[in-house]
Amino acid sequence: MTTATGYITDLDYIPGFYPHMSPTAIRYAASLNRVIPPATTDNFRYLELGCGLGNSLTTLAAANPQGEFVGIDINPSHIETVDKIISAGGLNNAKAIHSDFVSLPKDIGTFEFISLHGVFSWVSPEVREQILRIAKNHLAPGGLLLVSYNAMPGWAHLQPIRGILRQYAQLRQGDTTQRIRDALNYLVFIRDKKAKYFEDNPQAAAYVDSLLKQDLRYLAHEYLNEHWTSFYFSEVAAMFHSVEMAFVGSLPIHTNFWDLCVRPEFQDLFRTTNNRLVTESHKDFCANTAFRWDIYSKQPQVIENVEDRLRLIDNLYFRAVRNDIKLPHKINLGVVSSTVQGPLYEILLATLSQDTLPLAEILSHAQLNDNVPADIIRAVDAGVAMGLFEVAAGPVPPSPENIPEHLFIPLPFNQFILRNEQLSGRPVSLACAATGTGYSLSDFDAAILYELSEAGKNNLADRVLAQLSKNERSIQKDGKPITDDKIRREVVEQACARFLSQAVPQLYRLGILESKPSS
Ligand SMILES: C[S@@+](CC[C@H](N)C(=O)[O-])C[C@H]1O[C@@H](n2cnc3c(N)ncnc32)[C@H](O)[C@@H]1O
Repeated sequence: MTTATGYITDLDYIPGFYPHMSPTAIRYAASLNRVIPPATTDNFRYLELGCGLGNSLTTLAAANPQGEFVGIDINPSHIETVDKIISAGGLNNAKAIHSDFVSLPKDIGTFEFISLHGVFSWVSPEVREQILRIAKNHLAPGGLLLVSYNAMPGWAHLQPIRGILRQYAQLRQGDTTQRIRDALNYLVFIRDKKAKYFEDNPQAAAYVDSLLKQDLRYLAHEYLNEHWTSFYFSEVAAMFHSVEMAFVGSLPIHTNFWDLCVRPEFQDLFRTTNNRLVTESHKDFCANTAFRWDIYSKQPQVIENVEDRLRLIDNLYFRAVRNDIKLPHKINLGVVSSTVQGPLYEILLATLSQDTLPLAEILSHAQLNDNVPADIIRAVDAGVAMGLFEVAAGPVPPSPENIPEHLFIPLPFNQFILRNEQLSGRPVSLACAATGTGYSLSDFDAAILYELSEAGKNNLADRVLAQLSKNERSIQKDGKPITDDKIRREVVEQACARFLSQAVPQLYRLGILESKPSS
């Protein structure tokens, strides 16, 4: 079953939290591109178009109690699920509206942030027009909009896969799940029998294996919608330009650095142009981009100099991703490999492993006096892009000396998520008010955390083992399920010990765990 404009509604989408959607990530990407983002210290408004099952919306609402979060979705079953999370999580700053974008309530007001993930490439041209109208009418001046889409040329050789799946599914009987299952089997059949398309396109043949690992709900929403389209960057930029919105930058952060995305032999293409729109297109061709997360703004306010960036932007703090990173640090972000090293990074890493600091405080650090502010800022930004540092919405306290014996989970939202998502078979995201975004852990670690918060450290491994048995959940070692009870116990005991020594100090530092008040 689909909407009048061809979008599937008889099958729920999959749950998922996307960190790029946090106001902090969007604001930082804007500031890096010399655009002043909306302030988030006090109240701000955030609209998610096509919020699905609402994991991003609700996690961000719980992590940013000073903001108001509104989600819109056409699927009533999605909105029912979001409403349940909002009510169980006690989120009085979040609201889910069951509505087609076309009939969005006119008096909904304006928003400092609008996001749409997994929507723009999958809806009809009329719905896209409506999205552009919403952006024009409901994004506050200086506000930021995040849009994700399937991009060209990365999708070029895979487009027929979508065509085959959709056409075959249309010929089949049954509900959406049955039809996507049949279509997938057909795809595997013609691939295995070496249909000429697959012989001529070995990458497409290999791609079929990755589809077999995916959830059918994801595959149905990705491939069976009537109007699926992959766009060149310039096409999307032109659409937003038509509603007077300008391209600001992109996520993940490293995509804002062309030299981290394309090989050095292409540098002349980039060094000889100052036009960002041209640069983005070069980058997509040189990197064969298949998916983009782009940020647009209405009436962007440009940062003229370093002082502006320090003075006009609140709530962006930097810290080392981990305390044990050693230089030189090697990374590969897909196409190019880079190495981070040198005295400036040594000092930044040592400093940001101890403290979470805003740019102004990093610049005034005594050991950095000999460096020009612009160089320090560039090193911090490049460090974020290369996975050395991360950005938080506030000052995360330093690692504690001692962890209290009795701990609890203060946020009702996190209590609800842990109760429901532990051992769900997918990553679990909890809200963290200190960072303003989600904190993700494996569903197995979520089960350990749940037991720890319910009844403390005593017999922790026994209780986790009981949960695993109750949920008929197998655990693996070296890629194989463990069948021997003794080995199973040993693995769970080791996992609990590791969780207590490594994850708990982090969770306590982030305020996801707090000291339990004595009763
Ligand atoms: C692929 S899902 C993405 C969900 C969510 N943003 C996420 O990342 O998990 C696309 C969502 O857009 C919603 N949608 C599609 N067309 C719509 C329309 N015309 N009006 C409102 N919602 C729509 C669908 O119901 C679906 O939940």
